Amino acid sequence: MEKVTVRSFLDMKRKGRKIVMITAYDYPTAKIVDEAGVDGILVGDSVGMVLLGYDSTLKVTMEDMLHHVKAVSRANPRALVVADMPFMSYEPSNRDALENAAKFIRAGAEAVKLEGGVEIVDRVEALVKAGIPVMGHIGLNPQRIYTIGGYRYRGRTEDEAARLVEDALALEEAGAFSIVIELVYAEVAREITRRLNIPTIGIGAGPYCDGQIIVYHDIMGLTPYKLSFVKRYVELYDVMKNAVSSYVSEVREGIFPGEGFYKSMDKDVLKRFMERIEGKDG
Ligand code: KIV
Repeated sequence: MEKVTVRSFLDMKRKGRKIVMITAYDYPTAKIVDEAGVDGILVGDSVGMVLLGYDSTLKVTMEDMLHHVKAVSRANPRALVVADMPFMSYEPSNRDALENAAKFIRAGAEAVKLEGGVEIVDRVEALVKAGIPVMGHIGLNPQRIYTIGGYRYRGRTEDEAARLVEDALALEEAGAFSIVIELVYAEVAREITRRLNIPTIGIGAGPYCDGQIIVYHDIMGLTPYKLSFVKRYVELYDVMKNAVSSYVSEVREGIFPGEGFYKSMDKDVLKRFMERIEGKDG
Protein backbone atom coordinates (compact mmCIF):
# COMPACT_ATOMS: atom_id res chain seq x y z
CA MET A 1 0.00 0.00 0.00
CA GLU A 2 1.31 3.41 -0.93
CA LYS A 3 2.32 6.06 1.59
CA VAL A 4 -0.51 8.54 2.22
CA THR A 5 0.41 12.14 1.41
CA VAL A 6 -1.47 15.42 1.42
CA ARG A 7 -2.08 14.86 -2.30
CA SER A 8 -3.78 11.55 -1.48
CA PHE A 9 -6.22 13.51 0.71
CA LEU A 10 -7.17 15.71 -2.23
CA ASP A 11 -7.45 12.66 -4.53
CA MET A 12 -9.73 10.93 -2.02
CA LYS A 13 -12.07 13.94 -1.99
CA ARG A 14 -12.11 14.00 -5.81
CA LYS A 15 -12.88 10.27 -5.94
CA GLY A 16 -15.52 10.50 -3.21
CA ARG A 17 -13.58 8.10 -0.95
CA LYS A 18 -14.06 8.78 2.76
CA ILE A 19 -10.91 9.83 4.61
CA VAL A 20 -10.35 8.16 7.98
CA MET A 21 -8.25 9.83 10.67
CA ILE A 22 -7.64 9.05 14.31
CA THR A 23 -5.40 10.36 17.07
CA ALA A 24 -2.31 8.54 18.34
CA TYR A 25 0.24 9.79 20.81
CA ASP A 26 2.69 6.88 21.05
CA TYR A 27 4.53 4.20 19.08
CA PRO A 28 2.33 1.13 19.73
CA THR A 29 -0.89 3.03 19.09
CA ALA A 30 0.52 4.43 15.86
CA LYS A 31 1.34 0.83 14.81
CA ILE A 32 -2.17 -0.40 15.70
CA VAL A 33 -4.08 2.35 13.90
CA ASP A 34 -1.77 2.22 10.89
CA GLU A 35 -2.16 -1.56 10.55
CA ALA A 36 -5.94 -1.07 10.89
CA GLY A 37 -5.78 1.07 7.75
CA VAL A 38 -6.39 4.70 8.75
CA ASP A 39 -5.39 7.37 6.22
CA GLY A 40 -4.14 9.93 8.71
CA ILE A 41 -2.82 10.03 12.27
CA LEU A 42 -3.20 13.22 14.27
CA VAL A 43 -0.85 13.69 17.19
CA GLY A 44 -3.47 15.90 18.78
CA ASP A 45 -3.03 18.32 21.64
CA SER A 46 -5.87 16.29 23.18
CA VAL A 47 -2.88 14.32 24.51
CA GLY A 48 -2.87 16.89 27.31
CA MET A 49 -6.27 15.85 28.61
CA VAL A 50 -6.25 12.20 27.54
CA LEU A 51 -2.76 11.16 28.63
CA LEU A 52 -1.14 13.91 30.65
CA GLY A 53 -3.93 14.78 33.08
CA TYR A 54 -4.21 18.48 32.18
CA ASP A 55 -7.68 20.01 32.58
CA SER A 56 -7.60 21.61 29.11
CA THR A 57 -5.44 21.67 25.98
CA LEU A 58 -4.27 25.18 26.91
CA LYS A 59 -1.58 23.69 29.15
CA VAL A 60 0.02 21.60 26.40
CA THR A 61 3.52 22.77 25.44
CA MET A 62 5.74 22.33 22.39
CA GLU A 63 7.93 19.99 24.46
CA ASP A 64 4.93 17.80 25.30
CA MET A 65 3.91 17.65 21.65
CA LEU A 66 7.39 17.00 20.27
CA HIS A 67 7.85 14.05 22.61
CA HIS A 68 4.69 12.42 21.24
CA VAL A 69 5.24 13.37 17.58
CA LYS A 70 8.65 11.68 17.73
CA ALA A 71 7.17 8.53 19.28
CA VAL A 72 4.45 8.29 16.60
CA SER A 73 6.79 8.96 13.70
CA ARG A 74 9.17 6.21 14.91
CA ALA A 75 6.38 3.79 13.96
CA ASN A 76 7.00 4.91 10.37
CA PRO A 77 3.29 4.82 9.49
CA ARG A 78 1.88 4.55 6.02
CA ALA A 79 -0.76 7.04 7.18
CA LEU A 80 -0.11 10.77 6.97
CA VAL A 81 1.24 12.09 10.30
CA VAL A 82 -0.17 15.47 11.33
CA ALA A 83 1.12 17.36 14.37
CA ASP A 84 -1.21 19.64 16.29
CA MET A 85 0.32 23.05 17.01
CA PRO A 86 -0.33 23.79 20.68
CA PHE A 87 -1.71 26.98 22.21
CA MET A 88 0.57 30.00 21.60
CA SER A 89 2.98 28.11 19.36
CA TYR A 90 1.70 29.99 16.27
CA GLU A 91 -0.50 32.87 17.46
CA PRO A 92 2.22 35.45 18.32
CA SER A 93 3.82 35.77 14.86
CA ASN A 94 4.51 34.07 11.53
CA ARG A 95 8.05 33.56 12.75
CA ASP A 96 6.85 31.59 15.80
CA ALA A 97 4.57 29.54 13.58
CA LEU A 98 7.40 28.77 11.14
CA GLU A 99 9.96 27.90 13.82
CA ASN A 100 7.60 25.66 15.74
CA ALA A 101 6.15 23.96 12.67
CA ALA A 102 9.71 23.28 11.48
CA LYS A 103 10.41 21.52 14.80
CA PHE A 104 7.46 19.21 14.13
CA ILE A 105 8.59 18.48 10.57
CA ARG A 106 12.10 17.68 11.84
CA ALA A 107 10.51 15.41 14.47
CA GLY A 108 8.81 13.39 11.73
CA ALA A 109 5.42 15.08 11.14
CA GLU A 110 4.32 15.55 7.54
CA ALA A 111 1.84 18.36 8.15
CA VAL A 112 0.67 20.58 11.00
CA LYS A 113 -2.81 21.49 12.22
CA LEU A 114 -3.76 24.97 13.46
CA GLU A 115 -6.98 26.02 15.17
CA GLY A 116 -8.78 29.09 13.83
CA GLY A 117 -10.35 30.61 10.73
CA VAL A 118 -10.09 34.00 9.05
CA GLU A 119 -7.85 35.33 11.84
CA ILE A 120 -5.03 32.85 11.13
CA VAL A 121 -4.83 33.00 7.33
CA ASP A 122 -1.52 34.89 7.58
CA ARG A 123 0.01 32.00 9.50
CA VAL A 124 -1.37 29.42 7.05
CA GLU A 125 0.00 31.33 4.07
CA ALA A 126 3.44 31.68 5.67
CA LEU A 127 3.63 27.96 6.48
CA VAL A 128 2.41 26.83 3.06
CA LYS A 129 4.88 29.21 1.39
CA ALA A 130 7.64 27.53 3.42
CA GLY A 131 6.53 24.11 2.16
CA ILE A 132 4.74 22.97 5.31
CA PRO A 133 1.30 21.48 4.64
CA VAL A 134 -1.43 22.88 6.89
CA MET A 135 -4.64 21.29 8.11
CA GLY A 136 -7.15 23.87 9.34
CA HIS A 137 -9.46 23.36 12.31
CA ILE A 138 -12.72 25.28 12.67
CA GLY A 139 -15.91 25.00 14.68
CA LEU A 140 -15.17 24.20 18.28
CA ASN A 141 -11.58 25.27 18.83
CA PRO A 142 -10.67 23.95 22.30
CA GLN A 143 -7.69 26.34 22.47
CA ARG A 144 -10.23 29.24 22.38
CA ILE A 145 -12.51 27.81 24.96
CA TYR A 146 -12.58 30.99 27.05
CA THR A 147 -13.77 33.16 24.17
CA ILE A 148 -16.23 30.54 22.91
CA GLY A 149 -17.59 30.10 26.41
CA GLY A 150 -17.47 26.32 26.75
CA TYR A 151 -17.36 23.09 24.77
CA ARG A 152 -20.52 23.79 22.76
CA TYR A 153 -21.77 23.07 19.24
CA ARG A 154 -20.99 25.85 16.76
CA GLY A 155 -23.17 27.09 13.90
CA ARG A 156 -26.48 27.18 15.76
CA THR A 157 -27.48 30.60 14.45
CA GLU A 158 -27.32 31.67 10.81
CA ASP A 159 -24.66 34.29 11.67
CA GLU A 160 -22.42 31.77 13.36
CA ALA A 161 -23.02 29.25 10.56
CA ALA A 162 -22.17 31.82 7.86
CA ARG A 163 -18.99 32.78 9.73
CA LEU A 164 -17.89 29.14 9.68
CA VAL A 165 -18.34 29.03 5.90
CA GLU A 166 -16.21 32.20 5.62
CA ASP A 167 -13.54 30.66 7.85
CA ALA A 168 -13.41 27.51 5.73
CA LEU A 169 -13.19 29.42 2.45
CA ALA A 170 -10.46 31.67 3.84
CA LEU A 171 -8.39 28.67 4.95
CA GLU A 172 -8.74 27.00 1.56
CA GLU A 173 -7.75 30.25 -0.14
CA ALA A 174 -4.70 30.52 2.15
CA GLY A 175 -3.51 27.07 1.01
CA ALA A 176 -4.70 24.61 3.67
CA PHE A 177 -4.91 21.05 2.27
CA SER A 178 -7.85 20.01 4.46
CA ILE A 179 -9.95 21.27 7.37
CA VAL A 180 -11.10 19.61 10.57
CA ILE A 181 -14.65 20.66 11.47
CA GLU A 182 -15.32 20.04 15.15
CA LEU A 183 -18.69 20.03 16.93
CA VAL A 184 -20.67 21.81 14.22
CA TYR A 185 -24.29 21.30 13.16
CA ALA A 186 -24.38 18.69 10.40
CA GLU A 187 -26.01 20.91 7.74
CA VAL A 188 -23.38 23.61 8.23
CA ALA A 189 -20.60 21.03 7.80
CA ARG A 190 -22.41 19.75 4.69
CA GLU A 191 -22.55 23.22 3.11
CA ILE A 192 -18.88 23.85 3.89
CA THR A 193 -17.94 20.47 2.41
CA ARG A 194 -19.90 21.25 -0.78
CA ARG A 195 -18.20 24.60 -1.24
CA LEU A 196 -14.59 23.46 -0.79
CA ASN A 197 -12.20 21.69 -3.15
CA ILE A 198 -10.14 20.51 -0.19
CA PRO A 199 -11.48 17.75 2.08
CA THR A 200 -13.31 18.36 5.34
CA ILE A 201 -12.67 15.98 8.23
CA GLY A 202 -15.48 15.98 10.78
CA ILE A 203 -15.61 15.25 14.47
CA GLY A 204 -19.04 15.69 15.99
CA ALA A 205 -20.03 17.34 12.69
CA GLY A 206 -22.24 14.70 11.13
CA PRO A 207 -21.98 12.37 8.13
CA TYR A 208 -21.60 14.83 5.24
CA CYS A 209 -17.89 15.62 5.68
CA ASP A 210 -15.32 14.09 3.34
CA GLY A 211 -13.83 12.17 6.25
CA GLN A 212 -13.95 11.60 9.98
CA ILE A 213 -11.49 11.98 12.81
CA ILE A 214 -11.89 10.71 16.34
CA VAL A 215 -9.86 10.47 19.54
CA TYR A 216 -8.51 6.90 19.81
CA HIS A 217 -8.99 6.73 23.58
CA ASP A 218 -12.64 7.77 23.21
CA ILE A 219 -13.60 4.98 20.77
CA MET A 220 -11.62 2.47 22.82
CA GLY A 221 -13.65 3.32 25.92
CA LEU A 222 -10.54 4.44 27.77
CA THR A 223 -11.89 7.82 28.84
CA PRO A 224 -14.01 8.08 31.98
CA TYR A 225 -16.45 10.53 30.32
CA LYS A 226 -18.84 9.63 27.46
CA LEU A 227 -19.29 12.08 24.59
CA SER A 228 -22.57 12.10 22.64
CA PHE A 229 -20.87 12.07 19.22
CA VAL A 230 -18.48 9.22 20.07
CA LYS A 231 -19.25 5.57 19.37
CA ARG A 232 -17.33 3.45 21.85
CA TYR A 233 -16.36 0.30 19.95
CA VAL A 234 -15.03 -1.44 23.06
CA GLU A 235 -14.91 -0.70 26.80
CA LEU A 236 -11.17 -1.05 27.27
CA TYR A 237 -11.09 0.86 30.57
CA ASP A 238 -13.01 -2.00 32.21
CA VAL A 239 -11.10 -4.70 30.31
CA MET A 240 -7.76 -3.20 31.39
CA LYS A 241 -8.85 -2.58 34.97
CA ASN A 242 -10.07 -6.18 35.27
CA ALA A 243 -6.74 -7.44 33.92
CA VAL A 244 -4.79 -5.42 36.50
CA SER A 245 -7.17 -6.57 39.29
CA SER A 246 -6.45 -10.19 38.29
CA TYR A 247 -2.71 -9.50 38.44
CA VAL A 248 -3.07 -7.86 41.85
CA SER A 249 -4.97 -10.81 43.33
CA GLU A 250 -2.77 -13.46 41.68
CA VAL A 251 0.41 -11.88 43.09
CA ARG A 252 -1.19 -11.57 46.54
CA GLU A 253 -2.37 -15.19 46.46
CA GLY A 254 0.98 -16.52 45.18
CA ILE A 255 -0.53 -17.70 41.89
CA PHE A 256 1.64 -15.48 39.69
CA PRO A 257 4.41 -16.11 38.75
CA GLY A 258 3.48 -19.80 38.62
CA GLU A 259 5.17 -22.58 36.67
CA GLY A 260 6.01 -21.53 33.14
CA PHE A 261 6.65 -17.92 34.17
CA TYR A 262 10.09 -18.47 35.74
CA LYS A 263 13.33 -20.40 35.11
CA SER A 264 14.90 -22.91 37.53
CA MET A 265 18.66 -23.48 37.76
CA ASP A 266 20.37 -26.62 36.55
CA LYS A 267 20.33 -29.10 39.48
CA ASP A 268 24.16 -29.51 39.67
CA VAL A 269 24.73 -25.76 39.48
CA LEU A 270 22.11 -25.27 42.19
CA LYS A 271 23.83 -27.87 44.43
CA ARG A 272 27.25 -26.22 44.06
CA PHE A 273 25.71 -22.78 44.55
CA MET A 274 23.98 -23.86 47.77
CA GLU A 275 27.15 -25.51 49.08
CA ARG A 276 29.10 -22.37 48.38
CA ILE A 277 26.72 -19.91 50.03
CA GLU A 278 25.93 -22.20 52.94
CA GLY A 279 29.64 -22.87 53.40
CA LYS A 280 30.25 -19.12 53.48
CA ASP A 281 27.45 -18.55 55.99
CA GLY A 282 28.78 -21.32 58.21
O1 KIV B 1 -6.38 17.34 19.60
C1 KIV B 1 -7.18 16.62 18.98
O2 KIV B 1 -7.30 15.41 19.23
C2 KIV B 1 -7.98 17.23 17.95
C3 KIV B 1 -9.08 16.42 17.35
C4 KIV B 1 -10.20 16.35 18.30
C5 KIV B 1 -9.49 16.91 16.03
O3 KIV B 1 -7.78 18.36 17.62
